[in-house]
Amino acid sequence: MSHRLQLLIPAAGMGTRLGADRPKALIDLAGVPLLVRTLRRFADLDLADGCIIMIAPQARAEFEGVLRAHFPAMRAQLVDGGKERQDSVRNGLAALDPATEIVLIHDAARPFVSADSIRASADAAAEFGAATVAIPSIDTILVSDGDAFLADTPDRKTLWACQTPQTFRVEVLRYAHEIALREHFTGTDDASLVQRAGGKVKLVMGSPLNFKVTTPQDLALARCVIEGGLA
Ligand code: C5P
Repeated sequence: MSHRLQLLIPAAGMGTRLGADRPKALIDLAGVPLLVRTLRRFADLDLADGCIIMIAPQARAEFEGVLRAHFPAMRAQLVDGGKERQDSVRNGLAALDPATEIVLIHDAARPFVSADSIRASADAAAEFGAATVAIPSIDTILVSDGDAFLADTPDRKTLWACQTPQTFRVEVLRYAHEIALREHFTGTDDASLVQRAGGKVKLVMGSPLNFKVTTPQDLALARCVIEGGLA
C-alpha cells in the first residue's frame, strides 16, 4: 500500500456497560489491557505511518504508561476524545498528519480483528473511497414500533452487522463529518456518515470473532477466545 495511511483508534469510552468505572480500553484481558491486544493486531502488520488514539482526558497518564510499557517504539499520539464516539473521531481527524491520504478507524474494543480484514478494508478504501468491515446478519432482524411490537422484518439477505476497521480517503471522511456536524446528526459509526453525505461505502467481509467487547459476557467470551487459541 503506497498511500500514506494513519490509524485512528477511538478508545475514549468509559466501559459503563461493562460495569467498569474506568476506560474500557484499559480493562485487563487475560493479562494485558484490551487496547494492547487491539494495537498488537496493527503493530504486527506495519501498515500505518502513525497512530492516533482518542482517550478520556482524565486517564491520559495511565494511557501513556501502557504505551510506554508495551509499545515503546510506536509513533502514537494521544488526543482527547469527546462525548460521543463521533466527537472522538472528529478530534482525531483534526490531529492527522497533513500528508495522510487514507485513514483507518478501528475500535479499541475489537481485539480480534484479522490481518485479512484490515488489509481488505484499506485496499477497498483506496479503490472506492470508503469501506467498512461487516458480516452478513445470521439472525433475522426485527424493526419495532415505539411499544416493542413488531413493525417490520427486512429481508435478511440485505442486512449486515457493522464492524471496524472502517477506512476512508481522508477528504471523503472530512466532508462527511462536516455535513454531520452542520446538520447536528450523530451516528454510531463513520461509514454511515459517508453514506448519508452521498458517498459510496464498500462492504468488506469481517468475522464473528471481530466482536466488540461491550458487556461482562463479551469480556468472558474474549478470555475464552484467547485461552482456546481461536484468534
Ligand atoms: O460505545 P461503543 O462501544 O460503540 O464504542 C466503540 C469504540 O468507540 C470504543 O473503542 C470506545 O472506546 C470508543 N469511544 C470513543 N469515544 C466515545 C465513546 C466511545 O472513543 N465518546
